[in-house]
Amino acid sequence: MSDLRLPPALLEEWMRSYYFEAEIDIGSSGVEDYSLRELRQLLGISHDELDEVVFHDSRTLGNPELRAAIARRWAGGDVDRVIVTHGATEANFLVMSSLLQRDDEVLVLDPLYQQLYSIAGSIGCKLERLPLRFEHGFAPDLEEAGALIGSRTRMIVVNFPHNPTGVTLTLEQQRELIRLASRVGAYLVWDAAFGELTYEQPPLPSPGLLYERAISMGTLSKAYGLPGLRLGWCIAAPDVLARFVRLRDYLTLHLSPLVELVARRAIESAEVLLAPRLRQAARNRQHLEQWMSRQEGRASWVRPAAGVCAFPRLDGVADVDAFCRRLIADDGVLLVPGSCFGRPEHARLGFGGASRDLEEGLRRLGEALRRAERSAGPRRSAEAENVALDRASAP
Ligand SMILES: Cc1ncc(COP(=O)(O)O)c(C=O)c1O
Repeated sequence: MSDLRLPPALLEEWMRSYYFEAEIDIGSSGVEDYSLRELRQLLGISHDELDEVVFHDSRTLGNPELRAAIARRWAGGDVDRVIVTHGATEANFLVMSSLLQRDDEVLVLDPLYQQLYSIAGSIGCKLERLPLRFEHGFAPDLEEAGALIGSRTRMIVVNFPHNPTGVTLTLEQQRELIRLASRVGAYLVWDAAFGELTYEQPPLPSPGLLYERAISMGTLSKAYGLPGLRLGWCIAAPDVLARFVRLRDYLTLHLSPLVELVARRAIESAEVLLAPRLRQAARNRQHLEQWMSRQEGRASWVRPAAGVCAFPRLDGVADVDAFCRRLIADDGVLLVPGSCFGRPEHARLGFGGASRDLEEGLRRLGEALRRAERSAGPRRSAEAENVALDRASAP
């Protein structure tokens, strides 16, 4: 920990600069957020229940009833494997900081949410990258993964459904990944931030149900529309959680009893919150698909199988970073440049929000792409993408 030198978190910096300025957000990776009023109505939380909260300290691993609710839904009922965290962000930090050491080999997806590799990089781990290639539909090649995983692999870090590409695994592929990890005894870190946002298959099970050294993270920030609640969790073997505690004692200690109450009620009635947001995201995905079919020559994509992010390549745009800045300044629309994920030809487009915002945001984006096309001239070539892929980029 002492020599941890973290690089800037590019996505967070982008959001800090532009999220609060934007009129329409089609860059974020969540669904439409809930208000406390909506939560109270939907979950039947009374004013009395809120009034009874006393702001005493909570427990290091989290409120027992909240842990039990998480365990029932995601950990086969095993409360001892659950810690409640300040978003999946804290969980990610605890996992990497307490389990990795300099020179450990860590296999990561590329691209990947930055926290999931930068902490390991800062510790001095040797990062191996499993590329998700646009021209292969971003599909992870598990044979390639198998060739990269060896006896020195300490940890395998994945995130499915995937931010930013929207790619996911089949149940058989998840089993295969677990087999690859167990063959060498590596930790399998499974960031399931978007776990319940699936359209074509049921959510994948927590890998910890099948493999002792699997560690999974979840959050109420994405599918549940509660990013400002800052509630996440991690499911891991009790001895691993004990290592987190030693770090947490210097970091966040525990969560607020008020947050824990709301989170417990949200998880106990998960479907009530999830169902309308998933329906809206599915409708939005169809709208986005129709919109993309009209962008021939300006943008190309891989249709996301799950989650609420797409990662189109902006074929008619010479400088995507500058384009995204202009899009906010001139059109009031937030998009995230692919440079935040080491793929500067692409942009992350979040389609989980309110349908009217997505529709208006895409209308404005479409106009901006046409303007860029008129001013830029010839289309970007396929070679440009390959150069971008080869660049010493993200992980
Ligand atoms: C893959 C992934 N993991 C974790 C997080 C962090 O989520 P939280 O808000 O729970 O800290 C994010 C946020 O974008 C994410 O995309």
